[in-house]
Amino acid sequence: MTAPPPAPDLFTWEFATDPYPAYAWLREHAPVHRTRLPSGVEAWLVTRYADARQALADARLSKNPAHHDEPADARGRTGIPGERKAELMTHLLNIDPPDHTRLRRLVSKAFTPRRIAAFEPRVRELTDRLVDGFAAKGEADLIHDFAFPLPIYAICDLLGVPAEDQDDFRDWAGMMIRHGGGPRGGVARSVKKMRGYLVDLIERKRADPGDDLISGLIRASDHGEHLSGNEAAAMAFILLFAGFETTVNLIGNGTFALLTHPEQRALLQRSLTGGEGAGGVGGGHGNGSGDGDLLATAVEELLRFDGPVEMATWRFATEPLRLGGQNIGRGDPVLVVLAAADRDPARFDRPDTLDLTRRENPHLGYGHGIHYCLGAPLARMEGQIALAALLTRLPDLELAAAPEELRWRGGLIMRGLRTLPVSFSPVV
Ligand code: HEM
Repeated sequence: MTAPPPAPDLFTWEFATDPYPAYAWLREHAPVHRTRLPSGVEAWLVTRYADARQALADARLSKNPAHHDEPADARGRTGIPGERKAELMTHLLNIDPPDHTRLRRLVSKAFTPRRIAAFEPRVRELTDRLVDGFAAKGEADLIHDFAFPLPIYAICDLLGVPAEDQDDFRDWAGMMIRHGGGPRGGVARSVKKMRGYLVDLIERKRADPGDDLISGLIRASDHGEHLSGNEAAAMAFILLFAGFETTVNLIGNGTFALLTHPEQRALLQRSLTGGEGAGGVGGGHGNGSGDGDLLATAVEELLRFDGPVEMATWRFATEPLRLGGQNIGRGDPVLVVLAAADRDPARFDRPDTLDLTRRENPHLGYGHGIHYCLGAPLARMEGQIALAALLTRLPDLELAAAPEELRWRGGLIMRGLRTLPVSFSPVV
């Protein structure tokens, strides 16, 4: 019997560029694997689809960082979000039932499919304006000029942040994304400023409600369940935070995957520019038929193939449990590696192939269970509109650098490019 190849190094530069070979190794040889993260914290990585799905829905794996088995004096140094005692941290992704159930029900009343659908024309307008901004130049950095500003302006609009304040948000968000959410320095200042601004905005909306999501949240909490000022600010913050970098990376990773898979890109481009119903934003999971729906299945496949969320946010064992043949101790942190689960050959046919026509695609890119992404309908809509706009308005779009020269952010939870230089025939 031959020994398995040696365990790959995790969290190196090569890993950030292409983690998939390492994930394949882990899935095969150490599917539930204890490792030391760059922050020094020891955590379990779960890489097989079946284990990942089970872990995401397991009530013994809490989202509350208070369950983390770390000496109190180490708290705040781990980089685990929520261990900092910031008021913004009592949000959906850091709490369990029954608080989670109450807050999720409340926000669902305000974050309705109707509100998202009504927002579609605005997303198209924002998208077109951003493309107008660089179309005549013949080149762009699609992260800086497109993928980054689109979601932040969209969420600001949805929340009801006035236009004149949105550039401040853009700056704060830029600081948070560039420095990976670490607790110190500029990031902490940005979070503080954002919190101050949100608390103030919520007060203004209480006094003078509008048609926006924050006013909707306040209205929902006035009719029954209570939402404290802190909870409202934390909710606005998590909507911004969860909906921002994820969507940047959906557009960035998605465009990169299309530009490096010319046949698949041509297929999508043909379906967008020819044929009836082409260019339409498909609604659901791409379970319809015909070319008009290719955009919807394409965005789902891009999420599966190289999704924005590499690992789901933290979970902590509230009691000892068995997972994938391993004993997880009480208080142990667990990271579910969505990017690895979504390439599991035990679940997906030809998992390393990008196939935009893939119809049976139960990927975990938006998570699973009670914390399933609240913003998935908005993300789908933004992703579909953004990619369709790029491919139809800039039909000969191509990478302006060798794929291996591009730099990926070496974050833990998120996977995304730092820059995406492209060139195309100028459109005047
Ligand atoms: C939760 C992915 C966009 C709001 C999640 C989770 C994932 C995810 C994987 C679950 C995390 C976990 O279980 O630990 C994504 C992806 C997006 C995206 C891939 C874009 C492509 C958005 C947008 C919004 C949003 C646009 C809102 C404006 C949320 C919220 C939660 C969440 C509030 C927490 C839900 C809960 O705990 O009940 N998302 N997300 N997301 N997402 Fe998204």
